[in-house]
Amino acid sequence: MTNSLADSALVRACRGLDVPHTPVWFMRQAGRSLPEYRKIREGVGMLESCRRPDLVTEITLQPVRRHGVDAAILFSDIVVPLAAAGIDLDIVAGTGPVVAEPIRTAAAVERLRPLEPGAVDYVAEAVRLLVPELGSIPLIGFAGAPFTLASYLIEGGPSRTYVKTKAMMYGDPDLWHSLCSRLADITLTFLRVQVEAGVSAVQLFDSWAGALSEADYREYVMPHSAKVLTGLADAGVPRIHFGVGTSVLLPAMGEAGADVVGVDWRTPLDRAAGLVGPDRSVQGNLDPAVLFAPWPVVEREARRVLREGRAARGHVFNLGHGVMPDTDPDVLTRLVELIHTVGA
Ligand code: CP3
Repeated sequence: MTNSLADSALVRACRGLDVPHTPVWFMRQAGRSLPEYRKIREGVGMLESCRRPDLVTEITLQPVRRHGVDAAILFSDIVVPLAAAGIDLDIVAGTGPVVAEPIRTAAAVERLRPLEPGAVDYVAEAVRLLVPELGSIPLIGFAGAPFTLASYLIEGGPSRTYVKTKAMMYGDPDLWHSLCSRLADITLTFLRVQVEAGVSAVQLFDSWAGALSEADYREYVMPHSAKVLTGLADAGVPRIHFGVGTSVLLPAMGEAGADVVGVDWRTPLDRAAGLVGPDRSVQGNLDPAVLFAPWPVVEREARRVLREGRAARGHVFNLGHGVMPDTDPDVLTRLVELIHTVGA
């Protein structure tokens, strides 16, 4: 990382160092809320766009140009490394990842191959193209955490109850751990490829971990996420660990080895700061639905989030989950301006 990136507001806030203003970026900032995104994606499938470094570069830059955010997030998807490791899957518009043959047996787990770094060369290439284009703006790399990836592989697609996932977790813990351990290796390889190519921070998305109790999280999930996060301890980039509905999991998600714990809108950041302790920063947590309210409400809520975030060692402003597709992009731009003027 160059000095200007190590000194960026994002990296400094992640490390708990003082910043001139609270850094802000948005999960799912590169995506369907932007007309320029919809235009460039016309006729190109989601997975295909993730495999084209020219498209990845352009789509990643779009929200940076438009909103002036303090970080770019690589345009990709959590299932990209699974497809690269040989899983037959697709990303269906309006649905999400769909797996052709869900993994539910020992034979299926055995067939899950490690990720060869060369199989995601296009991701490394996109990062190498982006870093010089972005200059002093840090690029965030990311991957899905073992639990969230396992849920898609076992269910075969999105789920509300995670019944089949939990059936394997409780019913055949050995098989569950074997699957998650393979997924942790794939995730670690995928993140290392991005770090070696030049990303300045990484985010591990365990979006659906909130489906678990703390005891089950600690027993069945945390060791695998910890393998990924501690495996990057010497990588020299901050590690952000995020999930939705994780109020009771925040201490464990921090202990798993994160520098920053991402918080959804349900837990106020001052309470979250107490839960993750003085050695970790927090990221979040404006409810993405607030962006549909009149501006004075958006401003009031954003100022509250900033105020509560001051209780933490460092605060990265974000939404509590991803930007919703029909969000007015101008509200996001105005929100970035507000965060930058309020000061840290
Ligand atoms: O944040 C960004 O802007 C970077 C890009 C990004 C995408 N997916 C692009 C995408 C990131 C960080 C992700 C991560 C991801 N993918 C997660 C974790 C984050 C979260 O939201 O909790 C998860 C669970 C997935 C799986 C997935 N892929 C879902 C649930 C969906 C949405 C399905 C839909 O259409 O409603 C996708 C598809 C997807 N990934 C899109 C984008 C821009 C939409 C595809 C399109 O534009 O056709």
